[in-house]
Parts: sequence; structure tokens; C-alpha cells
Amino acid sequence: MSLPSSKNVKVLNQPFKVENHHFANRLVVQPMEGADGKRTGEADELAIRRYDRMAQSGAGLIWFEAVAVQADGRANPFQLWMHEDNTDHFKWLVERIRETAVKNGNPNPVIIMQATHSGRYSRPVDKPEPMIAANVPIYEKENVLPPERIVSDDTLKKIEARYGDITKMAADCGFDGIDVKACHRYINGELLGAFPRPGPYGGESLENRSRFYRNLTQNARGAAKPGFLVTTRVNIYDGIPYPHGFGVEKDGSIESNLTEPIALLKDLNFSMVNISMGNPYFNPHVNRPMALEGVERMYSLTKKVREALPGTALVASAPTFMRRESPYLAAGAIEENYSDFVGFGRMAFAYPTFAKDMINDQFDGKQMCVTCAKCSELMRGHSNAGCVVRDKLYTDLYLKMKAGHH
Ligand SMILES: Cc1cc2nc3c(=O)[nH]c(=O)nc-3n(C[C@H](O)[C@H](O)[C@H](O)COP(=O)(O)O)c2cc1C
Repeated sequence: MSLPSSKNVKVLNQPFKVENHHFANRLVVQPMEGADGKRTGEADELAIRRYDRMAQSGAGLIWFEAVAVQADGRANPFQLWMHEDNTDHFKWLVERIRETAVKNGNPNPVIIMQATHSGRYSRPVDKPEPMIAANVPIYEKENVLPPERIVSDDTLKKIEARYGDITKMAADCGFDGIDVKACHRYINGELLGAFPRPGPYGGESLENRSRFYRNLTQNARGAAKPGFLVTTRVNIYDGIPYPHGFGVEKDGSIESNLTEPIALLKDLNFSMVNISMGNPYFNPHVNRPMALEGVERMYSLTKKVREALPGTALVASAPTFMRRESPYLAAGAIEENYSDFVGFGRMAFAYPTFAKDMINDQFDGKQMCVTCAKCSELMRGHSNAGCVVRDKLYTDLYLKMKAGHH
């Protein structure tokens, strides 16, 4: 087992530039949703509170959570959803994040919006409405989804067109960029592993399986004003076997094979890529490591992408399990050239000023995330997600959920 590590946390404070965007430092708040929007798509009270806290972090980049591009793509009825009638709200929220950051003595963060359609995991109005790329027996087991759940090529084309509109809206709202989300087995991610799907969006050819991703990206780029960043958070490894997983060997195992992910990223030529893996619903330990093995998987595979794409700005994910060691893992990742940025997910929920404390070598173990997984449990229990251990509001929500009334 080998992980990057360095006590030289000053490297985290080095500025960085991607295209025309200046990042004050190398720390990132990863996208973290809380199922706390309004049914009409805007951030509700708790979501606003989450961003007030994240703006205190001092991170140079806030990678804003999954925002549905259309109503049927919401993962829950309270997922944020951008549409023509609520851009004023998102504009207000983005301004508020910047103002809060600056008021707290932090740099004005770069803010990137994650654009998503939840596909298989869509639950727009209180019951699941899956839209799948292909049947995946290990997900569906005794509950095989009927053919009408397989998304049609025409529907995919409509979602592709929607990404152009959403890119324009996100830019008008003051976001610095958009993330063409391709991770965690939502529709765009699932299509990358859709070997059994017939037609132009599936099969053995990577060109087909990545058609949707390429079209989304092309449409986002076509709609982006000069200087607006089009980026991506992508699964380089799904952790499920062929013929369903992306980034795995074809021998029926779940061994990683990055040939396709690397070829695709080279082809798409993003200036910045946020690396992720796994499926939070199926193999959450891959997505949100709960053991050293998971952290090692994340960093060793990220290093392979770095070696293959030395000119692409990379964000490494999932350092939180390292707890007290996590600032050193992050510093090591920068110093040993695994990535240019390191993004914290669960830590950002637990510890509002984590980034500036890491940079100043004042990391406080009493505020850190202890990777208890209760934030995920809140999500699964259809409550609002936050830190149950460090943030009393969510301790109370958790206890209510456990008592069966929320
Ligand atoms: C409650 C919760 C919500 C999340 N929401 C998102 C999301 O909206 N988009 C996304 O790409 N990842 C999401 N993630 C994954 C995180 O961004 C991150 O990749 C993961 O937690 C691993 O990083 P960590 O070890 O620093 O927590 C979420 C994770 C949790 C626990």
C-alpha cells in the first residue's frame, strides 16, 4: 500500500490557473448535496446554510453540488433543479457564497456547477422513476426493470440539447464553470458502461458508449461564453464487472483497467477534470472510502490518469477517511504530482473552516469528520444531509429519523 504524504502543508496554499481562472489555493469543497432544496428547485433554508458554511472554508474552489437539468432527472424531490424560472435565485446564491467567503477573510472562490440527470436513480416526486441505459442484473437482482425503463435515443438527444440551455443559465447566474457530470452511475456515467445496449449509444465501441458524454460536452462548449469553464467529474472506475462497468477488466473481475477512461479523457480534452469512482448506491466504499484500501485505490488510479494526461488540471477525491492525516495526504498529492487539487467531501460537512486550518497547519481533530457515514444514512433515509456528529442541527434530524418521524 502506498499513499502520498507530506508535512509541507504550505504547498496547499499555492495558487493555480486553469484557462483564465485563478485559484487561490489547491483545496476544493467537493459537490455535496443535502436533499434540502424546494420542490420548485431552489435552495431552501438548510441548503443556504450549507453554502454559508462552505464559504467559510477558505477553499479556492467550491464545486457546487449536483443540480438537475430537468425535472425528471432529480434524484429526490428536494434535489436542486435549475430551470428558466429560478435563475435569479441561483444568481443570488452564487453572489451570497462569494460575499460570505470574502467577509470571512477568504479568497473569492471559483464556483463550478455540477449538472446532472439522475437516470437510474431518478425519484422526482416521492417515488422512483428510473431511466436506465441498460439492465444491470447486479443492481436489479429480483427486481428487473421493464424495457420501458430503458431510456430511448430520442430522450437522450433531448437531454443533450438541454445541456446547452443549462450552460447559458449557469453562466448568467455567475458560476465560473459547469461540470458535465459523468460519475457515480447516473445516466451519463451508466451509458459509459452500457455494453449490452444496442444502437448508437451502447455496445462494444467506446465511441458509442461515450456518444452522450461527447454530445453533452460539445453542447456545453457551444453554449459557453468565452472564459466559461466546461469541465467534468468523471468515474474512471465503476467497480462492477464487464459488461456493465467502465474502467474495469473484461475478464469478469472488478480489477481496474484505465485504457478506456484515459482514451476518452484525451479525446474530450477538458482543461480540468475531477476524478471519482464507484456508485454510492451499490459500492459506497469505493465512492466514499471507509478504509485505507479505498483511499489507496482512489489515489493510485488518479496517479495513472496524471501520468497519462500531464497537462490536464486534476482534482483528486476522497481524502476524508485519512482524518488527522488528511492534510498531509493532500499536501503529498500536490507535492508528489498526483493531482493539482484535492477535494474534500465529508470533511466539508463536518468542519466548516477545514481548508484554511489545513493551509495554516492548524487542523483541529475535534472538528474533523470521523467518517461515521451518518450523512449518507440521512440521505438514504430521505432526510436532509449534514454532519450528525459535529453539527447539532443534524444530530437532531438524525435522532428524529431514527425515531421514525421526520
Ligand atoms: C451526503 C453526500 C452527498 C454527496 N453529494 C454529491 C454530489 O452532489 N455530487 C457528487 O459528485 N458527489 C457527491 N458526493 C460524493 C462526494 O463529493 C465525495 O466524492 C465523497 O464523499 C468522497 O470524498 P470524501 O472522502 O472527502 O468524503 C456526496 C457524498 C455524500 C456523503
